[in-house]
Amino acid sequence: MYKLVIQGGTPLRGNVKASGSKNSSLPILFSSILADSPITLQNAPQLSDISTTLKLLMSMGAEFILESDSSLYVDASKLDNLVADYNLVKTMRAAILALGPMLAKYGKAKVSLPGGCAIGTRPVDLHLKALKELGATIEVKNGYIYAEAENLVGADIYFDQISVTATENVIMAATLAQGTTTINNAAQEPEVSDLSHCLNKMGAKISGIGTSVIVIEGVKKLNGVQYSVCSDRIEVATYLVAAAITGGSITVKGTNPKAMRSVLGKLIETGADIKTDSQSITLNMNGKRAKAVNIKTGTYPNFPTDMQAQFTALNAIAEGHSSITENIFENRFMHIPELMRMGANLTLEGNTVFCKGVKSLTGAHLIATDLRASASLVLAGLAAKGTTTIERVYHLDRGYETIEEKLKLLGANIERVQD
Ligand code: UD1
Repeated sequence: MYKLVIQGGTPLRGNVKASGSKNSSLPILFSSILADSPITLQNAPQLSDISTTLKLLMSMGAEFILESDSSLYVDASKLDNLVADYNLVKTMRAAILALGPMLAKYGKAKVSLPGGCAIGTRPVDLHLKALKELGATIEVKNGYIYAEAENLVGADIYFDQISVTATENVIMAATLAQGTTTINNAAQEPEVSDLSHCLNKMGAKISGIGTSVIVIEGVKKLNGVQYSVCSDRIEVATYLVAAAITGGSITVKGTNPKAMRSVLGKLIETGADIKTDSQSITLNMNGKRAKAVNIKTGTYPNFPTDMQAQFTALNAIAEGHSSITENIFENRFMHIPELMRMGANLTLEGNTVFCKGVKSLTGAHLIATDLRASASLVLAGLAAKGTTTIERVYHLDRGYETIEEKLKLLGANIERVQD
């Protein structure tokens, strides 16, 4: 097992390039099941969630090649095992995205229930209800979802709660359904739009992309395509907070500032000087201590839950009092006790963290618990006095491509060491 060892206190400076989006790449890889020929995915990040998805697709009969230019050639056009096995699904909940495409293309799917995870119970009822409305028969037994449909038929679907992957599952299933599907109260996250644009390039007829009402006219077949995924706005935002928390100045290149308005707004409130052009973001703290900011997480375009833990670390050493309310995942606070061990003054009441900023944190031995909580511990370690050691780095490797290499490029003193 690997751990990260960080000597804190160096302001980050320099340029870093954004990786491709994990949360766009995953549904697009699953959409390859719908196509009658191979897809080539460009700009996909090299992450463990991507390898888990490829392993899952291979276990179903797909083939893939990692090309010399790092693009992924995936042929999932003819599957012979319509099962998403528990052993892979348990490590990555997004595997539920295999359900819609398999059902639409083959009329049949068996997908393991993902189960709980460190950040909350995370049920899949919205996925199942919507797929039933498209005509699927669904039975849940022995920990698996068994779905069947001779023909999926377009329907008028209303989600009573907004869900990113449920929206994506239904969009994918509806592309090959008979007739028109309307998804009301759809997720508007940029990654849902990226998937929709890719599907349209494959021959789908999706309109209302990026809005809360998405309309999908079913088509008979989809073709393989070459597609480049958008940049990872959560990775970009994490590096910007890394610069803010260390009082540094960095430029992140290859990103889309328009998809990050809520986060950039909060960084400006902390006192950061932010400059953007169409593909890059520069943050400069001018050596100042950040001011504490109040945050409420929400669905896009509101503040993303995937940045809540990182901003909690920033508030921990910012000037003033703040509150952060988590509205998406009820239990997403595993980083709080670890940050408190570094000297943060945090109080958790219900789904709100109250924070009194302290002047500095001190390095400590920490355990990473989930992807974004781990990122917040890295940020705290970069700002803390002394040495921070973070165990269970595999959580970070699910969502941050070569994180210690990128941070080193920015001047951080961080090493990955084996136990
Ligand atoms: C996706 C993202 C994840 C992000 C989250 C919220 C991917 C692969 N993952 O996760 O990084 O943190 O969106 O932006 O894109 N819910 C139900 N029933 C369901 C589905 C969801 O009650 O059937 C609830 C969830 O428990 C949660 C809320 O809906 O409270 C939103 O979750 P959802 O948008 O579905 O998250 P994911 O798609 O799993």
